Amino acid sequence: MSKFSVFLTFVLSLGLYVSQVFAQSSLEYAATVDEDRLSAAASEPEAWMSYGRTYDEQRYSTLTGINKDNIDQLSLSWFADMTTSRGQEATPIVVDNALYVTTSWSNVWAFDARSGELLWEFDPQVERTVGLKACCDVVNRGVAVWEGKVFVGALDGRLIALDSKTGELLWQTQTFDPERNYTITGAPRVIKGNVIIGNGGAEYGVRGYVTAYDAETGEQNWRFYTVPGDPSKPFEQPELFDVMTTWTGQWWLLGGGGTVWDAMAYDVELDLLYIGVGNGSPWNQSLRSPGGGDNLFLTSIVALDPDDGSYRWHYQTTPGETWDYTATQHIVVADLEIDGEERRVVMQAPKNGFFYVIDAATGQLISAENYVPVNWATHIDLDTGRPVENPAARYDVTGTPFIASPSALGGHNWYPMSFSQNTNLMYIPITENYMGYISDTEFTVNETGWNTGIDLAGGFGLVMASQGLPEQGTFLQAWDPVTQEEVWRVRHEVDNGPAGVLSTAAGLVFQGNRSGEFVAYDDMTGERIWSTFTQAGVMAAPSTFEVDGQQHIALLVGSPALPSEGPGAAAATTLASSNNSRLLVFKIGGTAELPRVPVESASDIDFDIPQTDAPNEVIAAGETAYTRTCAVCHGDAGISLRPDTYPDLRQSSRMISEQDWSAVVLEGELQEQGMISFANVLQDGEAEAIRAYIISRANTDADLR
Ligand code: HEC
Repeated sequence: MSKFSVFLTFVLSLGLYVSQVFAQSSLEYAATVDEDRLSAAASEPEAWMSYGRTYDEQRYSTLTGINKDNIDQLSLSWFADMTTSRGQEATPIVVDNALYVTTSWSNVWAFDARSGELLWEFDPQVERTVGLKACCDVVNRGVAVWEGKVFVGALDGRLIALDSKTGELLWQTQTFDPERNYTITGAPRVIKGNVIIGNGGAEYGVRGYVTAYDAETGEQNWRFYTVPGDPSKPFEQPELFDVMTTWTGQWWLLGGGGTVWDAMAYDVELDLLYIGVGNGSPWNQSLRSPGGGDNLFLTSIVALDPDDGSYRWHYQTTPGETWDYTATQHIVVADLEIDGEERRVVMQAPKNGFFYVIDAATGQLISAENYVPVNWATHIDLDTGRPVENPAARYDVTGTPFIASPSALGGHNWYPMSFSQNTNLMYIPITENYMGYISDTEFTVNETGWNTGIDLAGGFGLVMASQGLPEQGTFLQAWDPVTQEEVWRVRHEVDNGPAGVLSTAAGLVFQGNRSGEFVAYDDMTGERIWSTFTQAGVMAAPSTFEVDGQQHIALLVGSPALPSEGPGAAAATTLASSNNSRLLVFKIGGTAELPRVPVESASDIDFDIPQTDAPNEVIAAGETAYTRTCAVCHGDAGISLRPDTYPDLRQSSRMISEQDWSAVVLEGELQEQGMISFANVLQDGEAEAIRAYIISRANTDADLR
């Protein structure tokens, strides 16, 4: 090599080096996500750029750095404690070396994905009273990123754009009337510069819709309503004219429901946006639409043009729904070979218990089979695409109570499933359950609380009094969408709800659970290959990414109170972190360790904590009602952060008797001291259910003993 060429090589390599350094620092945390990059996300497995990883929301990664040969060395690389202790449901987003995640109360956190260094934190300062409008906790499922911006939908309805590098607020816009009982818990999606967000609130009498905002400016580009409004006013969309004929009575005074609170997927090939539409408001159809009717677009998958929000097709899973059978569950787009033909399909396992495979271009039903026990319908008629109902299931029409499978929690709820291209199987977090439905004959609209139109407490009683009901349970299920059959299932030890799923090309399926574990399963057999203790219950789905040439897996942990029963729970309650929200990031050979939380025995309790014989369902209902109504003051999960002002109810002797309890909670004995009566807010039986929940917390919590 001549001197000159050596010199040239040196100069060139220097130039390369300099430009690489420059590129690296300018791209650092830049979230340079655009339509090309998102559309091709499947070919960039190092990143996890949108909620379901790819636009088709398969939650499948081709990374194989973590595999069956080395998984025994999978361990914690770094972790971060957050400041909220309510439910944690977000999927971490990773791009350009930054990891973005949300916690309850819509707080956003950004970390360096390699080191775990905190880059910034954003607290939207959601007013805590908004929590009273959230049916199912003040959760948030995550952010979307686009061209240097991070978007979050705040519980109070603001869509917020932040600078990806600094967390600085760029714009915010109110997406609904804050006077109405709407909330946002879902993750936004961005398609061609449109940030798309829905909302929740169908338990509280609202009308559902989804809206697209300009990513640059926050200006509204389009809005699609899922149910017709007041027919005396102009229709917002042409198809609502036909849709209106599927409704009767004065549904618009009750809102109608149909909120789009979670699922969205985008088909790049067909240029279609699919949205999952929720339940009716109120649940009870005879009260909502007294003459019956399909009540479109409730419980439907609707395909829209992502550019202007115009309607393309719909498939309704539960016509005339009356059981809270939302179709807001995770929607996955994939190519399947069915009867020797390549089909582009949309798949969903909605609450109603059937797994649907639908033609992605037309909305035509290809197949549907039940993935959990179902008794409200015998099957789905493939010619009509409609369920063949069990007439007894319509408690609202017959006037006779009915115990339905699945329950209103669904065979599958918001917990993300995962479609593996390695096995062509869908891994679904499922629950086998049932619930008693009794029409509320004295229904009147409740402005501040739930409006289901069913007697929830009576339904509990009905289930309690019934003999020989099948066992309930929580499972991870491997489902073949082509044959519509279960391939394997794993039972969770603690039956307190499942957690989201991830599958990878290394033949692994990852899922957390409520015993406080994070587990890897063999994707063909369900064999448990690896697990680690998370110190907290898990609900959220993991995501995976590659930095510094190494595959990592990120998981947000923290669920409502750890359960009091079941193997693993004892360990979990003694070692569990009192900070119930933590981000865990794993890699092969990670060396980080979670702190052991000292078990304090500081107790001011001068009475014997009573026992409760309330069944788990009642305790769970108590927890829900507590979280909705009391936690704002008395603290998340029953742990008061300001016990001098708001007594820690786990230490209150009021729990000993029903009379002492209801004197405060329902009759307002301590009204003057700021503890008002909640008689107008709580449903029948809820005060007692909360008491049972508090007793169970007092018995379980290690720091009280
Ligand atoms: C807006 C704030 C707020 C909310 C919401 C709230 N409380 Fe209270 N609660 C208080 C305050 C303040 C006290 C203390 C009153 C006093 O000084 O005696 C209290 C006291 C109590 C006590 C008596 C504790 C003791 O041993 O003295 C009970 C029991 C109780 N609350 C139950 C509930 C339940 C159950 C709910 C939900 C249905 C609830 N509270 C919701 C503010 C609240």
